Amino acid sequence: MRQWYQSAVVYQIYLRSFYDTNGDGVGDLPGVLKKLDYLRGGPNSLGVDAIWLSPFYPSPMADFGYEVADYCDVDPVFGTLDDFKRLLDGAHRRELKIIIDFVLNHTSDQHPWFKESRASRDNPKRDWYVWRSPKADGSPPNNWQSAFGGSAWAYHKPTGQYYLHSFLAQQPDLNWESPKVRAAMKQVVKFWCDLGVDGLRIDAASWLAKDPAFRDDPPNPHYRSQVDSPYRALRHTHSKRGPQLYTYLNEIADEVSKYTGRFMIIETYPHRWNNTEAYDQFYKQVNPQVSAPFNFEGVFAPWLAHSFRAFTDRFQTSLQDGYVPVYTFGNHDQSRLASRIGPEAARTAAMLLLTLPGLPVMYCGDELGLQNVPIAPGNVQDPLEKHLPGKGLGRDPQRSPLPWDDSRGAGFTSGKPWLPLTADYAERNVKTQLADPQSLLNLYRRLLKVRRDSHALKYGSYQSFDIGPDIFAYLRESQDQKLVVVLNFSDKPQIVQHRHLHGTVVLSTAVGKSDQQVEGEYQLEPHEGLIIEL
Ligand code: GLC
Ligand code: CA
Repeated sequence: MRQWYQSAVVYQIYLRSFYDTNGDGVGDLPGVLKKLDYLRGGPNSLGVDAIWLSPFYPSPMADFGYEVADYCDVDPVFGTLDDFKRLLDGAHRRELKIIIDFVLNHTSDQHPWFKESRASRDNPKRDWYVWRSPKADGSPPNNWQSAFGGSAWAYHKPTGQYYLHSFLAQQPDLNWESPKVRAAMKQVVKFWCDLGVDGLRIDAASWLAKDPAFRDDPPNPHYRSQVDSPYRALRHTHSKRGPQLYTYLNEIADEVSKYTGRFMIIETYPHRWNNTEAYDQFYKQVNPQVSAPFNFEGVFAPWLAHSFRAFTDRFQTSLQDGYVPVYTFGNHDQSRLASRIGPEAARTAAMLLLTLPGLPVMYCGDELGLQNVPIAPGNVQDPLEKHLPGKGLGRDPQRSPLPWDDSRGAGFTSGKPWLPLTADYAERNVKTQLADPQSLLNLYRRLLKVRRDSHALKYGSYQSFDIGPDIFAYLRESQDQKLVVVLNFSDKPQIVQHRHLHGTVVLSTAVGKSDQQVEGEYQLEPHEGLIIEL
């Protein structure tokens, strides 16, 4: 039986920045409920199949929710558990699936588990976290670094030991070696699955398992101290991806597989690019019926036809029957797509993402072509930027609120937005783009509709073919439908000829080109993307 997650388009909602209903400048769960029409089932909907919500659990917000103080509730800034239930209900009535963010590598230091754990060395929850004694000279147990800068160890004076935090000191790592921790986390999965959520996004998965011997990480020979985050000074061979990683993830997958129609997407960045083996490990070792790793190549590959073709070909060939590819070109941790590749190419990228096989994940705001919003030093929110200022590592620019209209607060809030709005929000907003047939938003809507109605795009095979430099072209084929996608990655017009180019143009990213017949040859405009039905 086909499952929704084999072909669905997921829209990532960074909750703080989506829609604010109470004027505190921060997006909330009632805001998502209010805007369901925008997502699916309304006259002006995008038409996505699922949403992934960033963490909404009670949290001190040192890393904006990526440190949970209670796994089974909602932070008041985002609403209540009842608000979540109402949202789930409203979404399900539209056949919109909800994927929640599961932050399982660490908790907040305000979580009752950690408060117990640090209370004394013989507290029953001591080993729920990773505690180690100092070296003889009082220094940390090893050289592991926090992804946000500095040692990954924080000294706790009252009990005379260090605890491990792969992120902020306010985010102590759980000790997944403890069967009790794993059992507790399975209870959390059960809680949300019983409530009816459709999927989990597994946060920071690579860190779950460490080297059992806690050996030092070796230096990274490619480290460039001027530009790189200090975190890159080491290769994280021991502080991440320990031998037990897949076992732990599979235990979570086992829990998920007890329910029908649930899926988990694993956040794990490979340490080398175009390294299909890294992805393959996850598919092979964590039940691929209910889980898949994100494919992050599209976030880091240069915007070149041959780069995108190379990784897609390699990756698609590596997939076995039933594996779900999860392509994505951006998220709340990465520079905005339109800033990276430019506003014209953003249209081409939309067509690429939504015509690839599997479960594409798009980031909220990319449908408007939002760019990184510059943040003045006084407005910095992201702890990463606060720890390592001026290196361009901060993630606030890509988290700026979604502009809904041209009113004060961009229709996002009646108060002061928690991060500055994009300077061009008076022109770049949902309302204006809905009214403009040629807008990027309407291109996304058309692409989503084409995909919804197309068996070949949802379930068909993928095969790329040569058609010229700077062009990435592929065939998507199912039993009764054959589509060709041709993407001009360059800013120059290109004349293409191919035996596959016979049929009707279903959609072009360029203005006014649909319904045309193509017979063997086509003149592509700069950046033009094209879907032809054969
Ligand atoms: C993931 C999240 C990121 C967060 C980190 C720590 O990478 O996407 O936003 O800071 O995990 O939880
Ligand atoms: Ca709010």
